[in-house]
Amino acid sequence: MSDFAHRLITWQKVHGRHDLPWQNTTDPYAIWVSEIMLQQTQVMAVIGYYSKFMQRFPDIATLANATQDEVLQHWSGLGYYSRARNLHNAAVTIMDEHHGQFPQDFETIQTLSGIGRSTAAAIASFAFNQVQTILDGNVKRVLARHFLVEGWPSAPQIEKQLWLLAESLLPKAGMVAYTQGLMDLGATLCTRSKPKCDACPLMNSCTAYAQQRVHTLPTPKPRKTIPEKNTTMLILRCGDEIMLEKRPPTGIWGGLWSFPEIDADTDTQTEALIEHIVKTRFGILAQTDKPLTKLSHAFTHFKLHIQPQPLNVLRPNTNVGETMQIWLSIDDAIGAAIPTPVRKILLSLQNK
Ligand code: ADE
Ligand code: SF4
Repeated sequence: MSDFAHRLITWQKVHGRHDLPWQNTTDPYAIWVSEIMLQQTQVMAVIGYYSKFMQRFPDIATLANATQDEVLQHWSGLGYYSRARNLHNAAVTIMDEHHGQFPQDFETIQTLSGIGRSTAAAIASFAFNQVQTILDGNVKRVLARHFLVEGWPSAPQIEKQLWLLAESLLPKAGMVAYTQGLMDLGATLCTRSKPKCDACPLMNSCTAYAQQRVHTLPTPKPRKTIPEKNTTMLILRCGDEIMLEKRPPTGIWGGLWSFPEIDADTDTQTEALIEHIVKTRFGILAQTDKPLTKLSHAFTHFKLHIQPQPLNVLRPNTNVGETMQIWLSIDDAIGAAIPTPVRKILLSLQNK
């Protein structure tokens, strides 16, 4: 037996959970119902529902003969109702195709609605003492930490690696304590935040613990591709001065001085339109110059593509706009409280 399995089993027998309502039985139906409820619901929330559900639907035949409505009614409050519909459908399948007996064959178990590989393994090990491994979110976390498996654990490639790893650790005997031990360790010690490594039976062999990487594992799900936005920054030039505008106190670059902007995602960028906007927004008569090279700036939640658009001011403002504006020499502007891309633009102007 792997050392991993041995220590987990020994620990489970002393420190694991032994009195949950779905334990101390080998009835596959009772175990199946609990595993489905526990898929997306915490143990504490499941406990109350489980007993009521089992009282109303004590066996597969009763569940299969009930209407879907009634099953859903008894599921009400647990959420993720497809679980209840699948449970009911599978009960009907077991009556129709398996003579009312919960199948023991591991592959056959997985053909039932709502039962994936990990749930099938939990049922097979608890009910039939089969040597099959579970791999739910908790187990992925334990394995990723103990064996330092990097990469998001639900990425197909990483998940495949974790299945193989989990299989390689299986004991030949003691499957009930082992499977429950994996669940208990992940739920009580090797938790997502504040894991209790000091109390962990696997601490001596845990790679993440040895390398102080516990808190960086498992690798989080990669971010979705971040949205991109386009903006045109208006560089109003009058002699050797440029105009900056104080940004609103909240939002990106809150309170910093920046170039006025036109949202390039919504506005059509004709020279005439830009000149018109400058005229109406600032009371400034200006002529567009050749656009400068685009630049991009990455924020945590989006990427901003900036088109700097210089304008030569023919007549400065006659009215003060709604926003705070100042005219500064390029040198002074570079020293002001300005965002990085604005500084980059100013530096490129300075070198000209
Ligand atoms: N989560 C999933 N299955 C479980 C079980 N049998 N006991 C405790 N938590 C679980
Ligand atoms: Fe998890 Fe800590 Fe135990 Fe490693 S030592 S398996 S990180 S609880």
